[in-house]
Amino acid sequence: MENFSMANPVKIIFGKDMIKEIANEIPQGSKVLLTYGGGSIKKNEVYDQVVKALSGFEWYEFSGIEPNPHYETCMKAVALIKEKDIDFLLSVGGGSVLDATKFIAAAVCFDDGDPGKILKGGKIKKALPFGDVITLPATGSEMNNGAVITRAETQEKLSFGSSLTYPKFSILDPTVTYSLPPRQTGNGVVDAFVHVMEQYLTYYEGDSLLQDNMAEAIVRTLVTVGPKALEEPTNYDVRANLMWASTWALNGWIACGVPQDWATHMIGHELTAFYGLDHAQTLAIVLPGIMTVLKDQKGKKIKRLGKEVFGIEGDDAIDRTIKAVENFFESMGVKTHLSDYNLNDEAITKVTERLASRGWKLGECQNITPDVVKEVLTLRK
Ligand code: NZQ
Ligand code: ZN
Repeated sequence: MENFSMANPVKIIFGKDMIKEIANEIPQGSKVLLTYGGGSIKKNEVYDQVVKALSGFEWYEFSGIEPNPHYETCMKAVALIKEKDIDFLLSVGGGSVLDATKFIAAAVCFDDGDPGKILKGGKIKKALPFGDVITLPATGSEMNNGAVITRAETQEKLSFGSSLTYPKFSILDPTVTYSLPPRQTGNGVVDAFVHVMEQYLTYYEGDSLLQDNMAEAIVRTLVTVGPKALEEPTNYDVRANLMWASTWALNGWIACGVPQDWATHMIGHELTAFYGLDHAQTLAIVLPGIMTVLKDQKGKKIKRLGKEVFGIEGDDAIDRTIKAVENFFESMGVKTHLSDYNLNDEAITKVTERLASRGWKLGECQNITPDVVKEVLTLRK
């Protein structure tokens, strides 16, 4: 196991009827900004519960945060916060609303010129405190400090993270996920699955037994409850297990002491930036290609995944495991080829050129050059 340091300060409040706990978590006297997306929280009554919980506070709201949230939208919230002197943010929505809220919290306090610099490595020295009610199990954003923001102007989707952008608290009420459309349930399962793969499916065969076993436990849970969530969207136990497994997929614990890949995400972000695909759709296209092209490097871990999660052993176990992963994504309703989204060679060229212009070499061995990306995407036509 490699050396590591670890601290995760997020308070998780899990279960039915927990939204009211907001009132006990936000410091008394705070001026609060409620941030949310396109209105799903008004249809499923989450908004009403939040408003009730905020009754003892002076509060304002900012809506219209889009999936794959835009820097330009976030900056409108920054202006409102400055105008109203707001000092606590409450995100109510999926990963996009929460990521936007993380950016807004940092951008309000940014004193080194354009807050867009945060997306290019600008140091966050201060951020407003924030909490959240997460309504879509997928990103793990509720228990990590990362966020991904799109600059619409330049078609760039970029991530950042800081020890100052952990939520103070996250409320995980599985009942709020009953209203998810099948597409978003499927997306969430695929995203969480791939998060585990980015931290597990590497060349590394060190003795990180606990992390490997935990990673497999998370993925086994996703493979078990994911399809059930599509069949029985209001089954509490199914939704609860899905929600908690998604949080664990990216809360930092399985990353301790092991190398990490993240190439699938980086390539996927470019497909979203150029063509607007859902985050999970891009991952479902790219991951089977990465597994195929890098099967020598990742082979032992692919075999282990096959055996421990899909019950695959014997000859050509690697190829059958890759196929099992692809089939699992398809079973969650997420298509796995570029052509399923009407993308062709032009997309491959654009993504490859963008990555080349950044000089990025991806993957746990930094050997995924633009040429390798081209090979990966060509396999996924
Ligand atoms: O906007 P509203 O009306 O709320 O509707 C949303 C949105 O249309 C809807 N939705 C959310 N909860 C719902 C619901 N509809 C009905 N019932 C509910 N309970 O779902 C749609 C998608 O929401 P979004 O927040 O975009 O999805 P997700 O949570 O998958 O977030 C995706 C974003 O997170 C980033 C992605 O890149 C993408 O921008 N990621 C963030 C990460 C992180 N912070 O650690 C890691 C991930 O790898 C990922 O990159
Ligand atoms: Zn992801």
